Amino acid sequence: MDYLEIVGGNTLSGDVTISGAKNAALPIIAATILSDQEVTLTNLPNVVDIRTLLKLLTMLGGSVAHDKTVAKINNGTITSTKAVYEIVSQMRASILVLGPLLSRFGECEVSLPGGCAIGQRPIDLHLKALESMGATIEIKGGYVHAMAPDGLKGAKIIFDKITVGGTENIIMAAALAHGTTTIINAAKEPEVVQLCEMIRDAGIQIEGIGTNELTIEGSGGKTLKFQTVNIIPDRIEAGTYLCAGAITNSSITLHKVNHTHIQSSIDKLESMGCTFELHEDSITIFPVTHLKPVNLITMEYPGFPTDMQAQFMALAVMVEGESLIEERLFENRFMHVSELNRLGADIWLKGSTAAVKGVNELYGADVMATDLRASSALVLAALVAEGTTNVRRIYHLDRGYDNLEGKLSALGAKIKRKKESM
Ligand code: EPZ
Repeated sequence: MDYLEIVGGNTLSGDVTISGAKNAALPIIAATILSDQEVTLTNLPNVVDIRTLLKLLTMLGGSVAHDKTVAKINNGTITSTKAVYEIVSQMRASILVLGPLLSRFGECEVSLPGGCAIGQRPIDLHLKALESMGATIEIKGGYVHAMAPDGLKGAKIIFDKITVGGTENIIMAAALAHGTTTIINAAKEPEVVQLCEMIRDAGIQIEGIGTNELTIEGSGGKTLKFQTVNIIPDRIEAGTYLCAGAITNSSITLHKVNHTHIQSSIDKLESMGCTFELHEDSITIFPVTHLKPVNLITMEYPGFPTDMQAQFMALAVMVEGESLIEERLFENRFMHVSELNRLGADIWLKGSTAAVKGVNELYGADVMATDLRASSALVLAALVAEGTTNVRRIYHLDRGYDNLEGKLSALGAKIKRKKESM
């Protein structure tokens, strides 16, 4: 397995270009199942999760021409509606094929996604919503077997809690359903908005895009013809690089960002003492010698994103005083705490809140990535730890960061990908 060898102490400088958003690309790739004609997706991030989902489409019989950031997909050739365990267990977001497969083909089998390091990750809200659209759902042998032989019917869906994937699955299911679907308490993340825009641009009437209430007029089973989709910039990758600039007391410029999408991270960094210069689609962070502690509560968009929690914790580790970080979305998203403490951090957990006491120095050590965002937090801490840090199990990182070590070394970090000796 690969690991990253990082020697701390360098300040960073220069420019970094943000890639397309993994969490926008995944539902958009799933949505191509709603069409039997070719559709082109551009600005895809070059990460493992994208390749995994494109592989699933080909396993279903779809045809995919994929070259790093561009994919031409034609799902007119789909012959199977069974999303097998070997793929879904690699990436739980594969569950996003459930809604489109069911609404287009009237029946599908999708392996239950495993949980993951950050939590049990149930899909009960997805299934309940599909049942209210007329589907019958059976769980057998680790698979969701969904049937709607006469097609799905529009329904009024009220989500008990805001779910990004659940909202996305139902938007895709509703697109080909018979009649009107209303989703109340819908997620309104930028990634959900782009999915809605893709489906609206194919001629489906959607009201309330960007709000917590969506109304979708289904096509009644008619497949869609999509325009080319240019994936929005990755707001979490952008936030991660802003934290890299802040933790190393550097000035760096991020290109291809959407400021609105990263406003909560900018606000929090400003409250800590960071200053910025914003241009049309770029943002520069400036060096700041004395950062102030931060209090964070993770919330659904536009609140502070749970996917930035670990990265801000790494930053808070080096800030004099005490920062409090409350994780409200996932029950186990503090796996990075023990690894950060191995580098010399002083973090205490009490239920869903972490108390981070600032320390003057971190010391390089061998640490282990446990999930995607925890991995990036360990890399951030390693950038300022004295000596060498080896971040292991970086297959987690490769799922969602496009060339992290290449982008960081171009900014001046001492970071190398190495192979573990057998
Ligand atoms: C999406 O996951 C993102 N993944 C996650 O990013 C992100 O952390 C999460 O949304 C929250 O913003 C993708 O978009 C591919 P949820 P998702 O359904 O859709 C509970 C990353 O690092 N819930 O909004 O799975 C659930 O357990 C990843 O890029 C139910 O109880 O998240 C969680 O506590 C990590 N029942 C909460 O809702 C359900 O049926 C939010 O989950 C569905 C969800």
